[in-house]
Amino acid sequence: MTTYITTPIYYVNAQPHLGHAYTTIVTDTYSRFRRLTGDKVRFQTGTDEHGDKIAEAAEREGESPKEYVDRISGMFRDTWPLLNIEPDNFIRTTDKNHVATVQRILQQVHDKGDIYFDKYTGQYCTGCERFLTEKELVDGKCPDHLTVPEEITEQNYFFRMSRYQQELIDHIKANPEFITPERYRNEVLSFLSEPLEDLCISRPTSRLTWGIPLPFDDKFVTYVWFDALINYLTGIGYPDGEDFETYWSVAEHVIAKDILKPHAIYWPTMILSMGLPLYKKLHVHGYWNVDETKMSKSIGNVVRPAELVGKYGVDCFRYFALREMSFGLDASFSADAIVARKNSDLANDLGNLFSRSTAMVFKYNDGVVPSVSVADDDTVLKDLAESVLATYLETMNNFQFHRSLQAVWELISQANKYIVTNEPWTLVKDPERVGRLNTVLYNLLETLRLLTLFLQPVMPGTCKKMAAGLGLPEDSLLVTNLKENGGWGKLESGTGLKQIEALFPRTKTKKKEQQPPKQKAEKKNKKQKTKAETIEGAITFDQFQKVELRVAEIVAAETVKKSDRLLKLTVNAPDERVIVAGIAEYYSPEDIVGMQVLIVANLQPVKLMGVESQGMVLAAKAEVDGKSRLVLSTVSAHVPAGSTVS
Ligand code: MSP
Repeated sequence: MTTYITTPIYYVNAQPHLGHAYTTIVTDTYSRFRRLTGDKVRFQTGTDEHGDKIAEAAEREGESPKEYVDRISGMFRDTWPLLNIEPDNFIRTTDKNHVATVQRILQQVHDKGDIYFDKYTGQYCTGCERFLTEKELVDGKCPDHLTVPEEITEQNYFFRMSRYQQELIDHIKANPEFITPERYRNEVLSFLSEPLEDLCISRPTSRLTWGIPLPFDDKFVTYVWFDALINYLTGIGYPDGEDFETYWSVAEHVIAKDILKPHAIYWPTMILSMGLPLYKKLHVHGYWNVDETKMSKSIGNVVRPAELVGKYGVDCFRYFALREMSFGLDASFSADAIVARKNSDLANDLGNLFSRSTAMVFKYNDGVVPSVSVADDDTVLKDLAESVLATYLETMNNFQFHRSLQAVWELISQANKYIVTNEPWTLVKDPERVGRLNTVLYNLLETLRLLTLFLQPVMPGTCKKMAAGLGLPEDSLLVTNLKENGGWGKLESGTGLKQIEALFPRTKTKKKEQQPPKQKAEKKNKKQKTKAETIEGAITFDQFQKVELRVAEIVAAETVKKSDRLLKLTVNAPDERVIVAGIAEYYSPEDIVGMQVLIVANLQPVKLMGVESQGMVLAAKAEVDGKSRLVLSTVSAHVPAGSTVS
């Protein structure tokens, strides 16, 4: 199979930030995933360098447009390797061949009678680089840029978009996967339910010179969107190139919701006018906010990818971006959220599984992959890995990366539990159970091998390290076909492991971020401090930080046999785990299912009345109606299960 996947080409009026990084990480991850399934892949990104906005930005910086676009485009190009993003093609709209192809297409569409000259008055938003309809304005302003658009009357060229409206509606209705997630498909269909206006596609050179001249009238340059969208064709050598033949029929575009209309309406109607088949899919994601606020230069909260990589590491950033955002919905970035993911999902879950499992192989089997006794029918991890692979393939194909990662983490968490349940440290003491020990170790290593495959598209660097640690050949991740090697049991016995460094050193949460500056705090809280010093057994902030508190949702509850005091709770935190709580006297199981409670998530598991408890539920001990009882702690608003408590 063949895959052609693109990002938007980014305006060079701003430097790369979290939003650009996200789209490009998604696209890189998808390309890597498709490669892993054996596809021939082409991944394209680039920069959009014409138009009012760019000309204005260049002037502000005191540079010529050309100098300016070269500089900022270079910043985008230099950012992607920092994020381990490897596009096959980086296109610029100032490239000569792009300019020539845009002119050729304009001429073709003009000759067909789909471009005409007319007078027009409209509300022009420079931020959007387009005329807005009255209906789109909110309180007279552009809802995205919160600016009053400028009323402009001018003679211009128009593209007969309306001519292709019905054909487009029919195509969207007949192809449910053309625009996904569904909410955006519905949005487009709803927009198309009203008559489409034709699209103004020129700007007079009296107003703007930084653009591509119309081939049939050099007093005009082409509208930035007509120029930009065509990059998806010029990048693969349209009209004559071999790559065009190979890739156009499978083109998939990734964008955020801000540029839905140009991609779902302008672009397909342009393609129809050109007489080409429509692109295959449009994948639309939501917006990243920062600490619940819109990211903006004026607020000063713009998140720069290079800074995140410096602080948390590239794979942590990639993992965080894909895990934290449900593709299609908005998400919020915060330093706390990324640290929590790093410490919990990466250091605790994945990092520990790798180091514990490999350390035991070094200790108990001289660092060599053991062979498994055929008679041992322990298929717990094998069965789970197979079902995870199925979910993984489906969700990765559907751009539901957060769900793919959730499924993979289910395997990680079960493998960690598998260690605790099987106690290899006990097995090793009994020479008769060496076969069983070997099976347990093999199953853990084979799970790790599969994890290197599943996670390679998301965390290529880490997976390379893991593969090296497992003694896999250096190119195992590059040449591997997931369909062939995603099956269980491919790890060869006798392979020697290699010692590697910890995959994810924990990130310490800085004291400064958590507490007022020392001196100030000392002055302000002198009394309190003296009191704190005298509290017997007082712990330091660092000690407290070691306790991992999370919000857990109770998904099932039952009494523990032969105990009046204990309830066995199955909770989502967000991994599923069992916690045994001494609350049976105060709560009946049916009362608490669905409740969100606070738990200590990183306690050593203990067995209570034969049931293993993986954490502790917090409750207040209080006098209620004259009786002493336990009252479960909870949160004041419903939050995602697993949210950290700080
Ligand atoms: N140049 C046009 C696109 C032309 S494509 C033929 C453009 N450029 S842009 O620089 O404004 O990039 C917009 C895209 O950047 C979004 O669609 C999205 O991919 C990414 N993002 C920019 N800010 C974002 C967020 N805050 N959150 C998520 N992605 C966002 O529009």
